[in-house]
Amino acid sequence: MLTIARSALASALFGLAATTVHAEFAAGPYHDAQCMRCHDTSVYTREDRRVRNYPALEAQVARCDANLATKLFPDDLSLLVEHLNTQYYRFAK
Ligand code: HEC
Repeated sequence: MLTIARSALASALFGLAATTVHAEFAAGPYHDAQCMRCHDTSVYTREDRRVRNYPALEAQVARCDANLATKLFPDDLSLLVEHLNTQYYRFAK
């Protein structure tokens, strides 16, 4: 059922993106749709959060992404890490 809904969505998105070479990856909407399945944003801001620096954030996001069926391209993964850093972690790079 979910697969059917996804492929319908994929077709709709593909139709919209067909005129562009590469549709811009929207980190915020992707995050809210895919990354909130197991935890909410409070894990990013809690007192004892695990991620302590930018490389650790990249590693954690890659680990979490690997749990999802929608594995991201490296460029999109970087945009997602950047999004979390801007919104929550604010590490210097
Ligand atoms: C299959 C379940 C699952 C999905 C889907 C998932 N995560 Fe996670 N994530 C976890 C678990 C479990 C933890 C560890 C929570 C804990 O330590 O209490 C975690 C922790 C994290 C942390 C570290 C929080 C800290 O302590 O600093 C980040 C960052 C994170 N996830 C980002 C993401 C992003 C981005 C996505 C979407 C690509 C995502 N997660 C999708 C399960 C998931």
